[in-house]
Amino acid sequence: MITTLKSDVQILARLLRGRSLQGTHQQQLESFYGPQAEQYDAFRERLLHGRKRLLEQLDVRPEYTLVELGAGTGRNLRFLDQPLQSFKKIEIVDLCPSLLAIAKNQYQRMNNIHVVEADATTYQPDQSVDRVYLSYALTMIPDWKRTIENAVAMLKPGGKLGVVDFYVSADTANVGNVQHGQMTRKFWRGWFAHDGVNLNPAHLQYLQTICRPLYLKEEFGSVPYLPFLKAPYYIFVGQKPDS
Ligand SMILES: C[S@@+](CC[C@H](N)C(=O)[O-])C[C@H]1O[C@@H](n2cnc3c(N)ncnc32)[C@H](O)[C@@H]1O
Repeated sequence: MITTLKSDVQILARLLRGRSLQGTHQQQLESFYGPQAEQYDAFRERLLHGRKRLLEQLDVRPEYTLVELGAGTGRNLRFLDQPLQSFKKIEIVDLCPSLLAIAKNQYQRMNNIHVVEADATTYQPDQSVDRVYLSYALTMIPDWKRTIENAVAMLKPGGKLGVVDFYVSADTANVGNVQHGQMTRKFWRGWFAHDGVNLNPAHLQYLQTICRPLYLKEEFGSVPYLPFLKAPYYIFVGQKPDS
């Protein structure tokens, strides 16, 4: 209990300081996540909602090849229902060395799991894959459009792309089924921008254009230590068209 509280205080202090805009994108990620890497998963467990549901809706099967872009420590693999050894091949891709070090530590003995330091906007696996997903990463990638296009490009025809992330609906036209009020949109955009998280309704809009939408859920999730706040997030699964 005391250990959790202590590590939460460290994380909260890091979040309150915000993300530095000095250096390259990779250097910014490293300076933001490096000091909180060890405590990252325990805190995000209570903030990053819907990750297990995303993987359920993505219909992930052991015979499939799978890529997570912006995978951090690889925590999401533990949400898979099947034993990890049973999967054909899983690649977890991220740009932040400190988070990847934790992933390597956990998965380096498994031949079917590959921990890759690379940029989600450009990384391509050797062969096209069955499933690609991003969990709370798209909002942290400046060139999000290129990332979505890159994710779709690595899919086999008929393969599926899944995304779970924070968002706000558009100011005028709605992109999903939920319309957030002006205060909600302004508050959450400002709140997340401090840590380099860009809430942009165009993400979901573009996903719905580039893939055939199969599943969309829009929810509000709890925020640690702030019981009166609920942050909006969505879960999207789409299919790459056959041609
Ligand atoms: C909020 S974390 C989410 C991590 C993990 N997906 C999860 O659900 O716990 C966002 C991740 O995106 C990664 N990231 C940001 N920009 C990236 C880029 N251009 N290429 C690859 N990873 C990136 C960060 O390093 C970080 O690990």
